[in-house]
This record gives sequence, structure tokens and C-alpha cells, in this order.
Amino acid sequence: MTAFLEGMPKAELHLHIEGSLEPELMFEIGQRNGIKLPFATVEDVRAAYKFHNLQEFLDIYYQGANVLLYERDFYDMTMAYLRRCREQNVIHAEIFFDPQTHTDRGIDMAVVINGICGALKDAEQEWGMSTRLILCFLRHLSAEAAMETLQQALPFKQHIVAVGLDSSEVGHPPEKFREVFDRARSEGFLTVAHAGEEGPADYIWQALDLLRVKRIDHGVRCTEDESLVKRLIAEKIPLTVCPLSNTKLCVFDDMREHNILTLLEQGVRVTVNSDDPAYFGGYMNENFLALHEAFNLSREQAVALVKNSFEASFVSEKELFEMNRKLEAYSQVAG
Ligand code: HPA
Ligand code: ZN
Repeated sequence: MTAFLEGMPKAELHLHIEGSLEPELMFEIGQRNGIKLPFATVEDVRAAYKFHNLQEFLDIYYQGANVLLYERDFYDMTMAYLRRCREQNVIHAEIFFDPQTHTDRGIDMAVVINGICGALKDAEQEWGMSTRLILCFLRHLSAEAAMETLQQALPFKQHIVAVGLDSSEVGHPPEKFREVFDRARSEGFLTVAHAGEEGPADYIWQALDLLRVKRIDHGVRCTEDESLVKRLIAEKIPLTVCPLSNTKLCVFDDMREHNILTLLEQGVRVTVNSDDPAYFGGYMNENFLALHEAFNLSREQAVALVKNSFEASFVSEKELFEMNRKLEAYSQVAG
């Protein structure tokens, strides 16, 4: 089963590119840019990755991103993630980036986007990897700042498929960004939002009704509202669930308490994702393996989870057909 999970063609729909920056690369980039990290060694960095909630993680995650200054840095970080995708048979990835984490330090939007997109293009040309880019607004900052960020991103519109919402959830409800998301949709962007990770089920309703999102990122607290779960099922609204992230941030105390498989059985379109793999102990395969260890995942369940992510992705009908064909061929030969 381990080999089956590792070899399975997959898609990742919830990945913060800044959260893929491994300590080794963080040190390398920090060194060449003359940025001092508050850690002496890679081991010290890893030892500091013990979190009790989302905010404790975010504080250290924003600190790590401080080493990123030049286009080359964004390229190297993105390419390192895409290589992991290739190793783990992730054939399609929809990647979040947090421009405000960089523009607030005086870095140009163009530097960030050109660096990331350079790597996306190379991975597509070199091994046929398919990708999409999603711009996330930092919800702990103001709606005005988000609007300004959206405007700065408009010249790069052709590179960005959707906008999303991340960072500290509680106290920053989706309704705060209603106008920004209205504007984003009028510019042709699709929308997604983190909701129901630490925040209440009501934030999921708001994301659906006020921000008109196509997917909910995390969304695991939906189970606190039965009528919401019914709606997610009826409207086939995908949840991009991140098992290792949820246990590392104590959303669930133990993987065996995670609700992803219950939701799958109920008919919710749940998907498996890594969120911030450098911080939470693994990429896509490690997330599948952690689920397998906790729940003795069946092949049917694993295939259903991957199928959900293909169907929840923002690819064309033709690309979707091709992705499904690869998965079917794999499960026939492997099974
Ligand atoms: N939640 C909110 N914001 C984030 C996350 C997350 O899991 N990862 C990176 N930014
Ligand atoms: Zn996330």
C-alpha cells in the first residue's frame, strides 16, 4: 500500500510556496543575501518547529520568508518544491503565494511573480508538470491593503488563476474582504479562501455566500454545522484538507481523530494536501502515508481522494480528462 500511495499520480491544491522553504535552502539563500537568521544551525531551525496553534506557526513562517529578496530566490524555492512534486508523482499543483509578505519588505511584485513563474514554466517544459498560481491576501492586514495588492497584481493577471485568503483566521472573517473579492471576480479571477481551520463554521458560510469561493481551504470545522455539511455535499464544494498541518497545529490532537475520512464517506468532496510541507513534516506522500497509518486507508479511498482533487482543480476539461486517464491506468496496473 505504501508503494501504491507513493506511485499514485496526484494533484496538490493547497500549498503555500513560502511554506515549502526547507531550512537548508533558507540558510543557503540567507547566506548569499547577507540575511542573518535567528538560528545557528538547520537542526536549531527544525527544533523550533513546534506549534500549538496557527499563530505560533505563522510567526516563524513569516520570519523564514525574510531571506527571500531576489527573483532567483523565488525561483529556487519554487523549483525545489516542483522537484519534490516530480519525485512524489504530483502531476498538477495549484500554488499559493503571499505577495504582501514580500511587498511589505520593499520587494517588487514583479520580482516575486517572475521568480515563481520562471520555475513553473521550466517544470512544465522539462517534465510536463502542470501548475496554476493563486494569490493570497493576508487577512490579518486591512481590506485596503488587500485591494492595493490586487491592483499591483493586475499587470500579471495572465499568470494568476485565482485569489485566496490566508494567515490568522480568528477575528478576520471573510466578510472583511467582500469588496476585494467582488473586484477580483470582476477582473476574471476565481476565488478560494481558508475557512474553518481554526475559525467557526460561520466563516465557511461567509466564504461561500460573500466571497463566492469555488473551494474552501481546510474547512474541517464544517462538521460543527450539520446544515453546512449538507450544503457542501449538495453543491459539491471541495475542501482542500491538510492532515499533517491540522495535527501539527493542534486542530486535531491525533491523526486518528481527523474527520477527513468521515467527510469522504458522507460524500463531501475532500482532498489531501500538504499546506506548508517544510514546516509540518511532509509533502503529499507523507500526508497520504500518515492517513494510511491512522486509518489503514484502502486503495478505493486513496483513489477517491485523488479523483476529488482532480475534479476540484482549475484545469481545463481536456487536462482533467488526461489526469483522470493517468489515474485510471495507474490503478488498473497497480491494482
Ligand atoms: N492557514 C492560514 N494561513 C496560512 C497557512 C494556513 O494553514 N499556511 C500558510 N499561511
Ligand atoms: Zn493553508
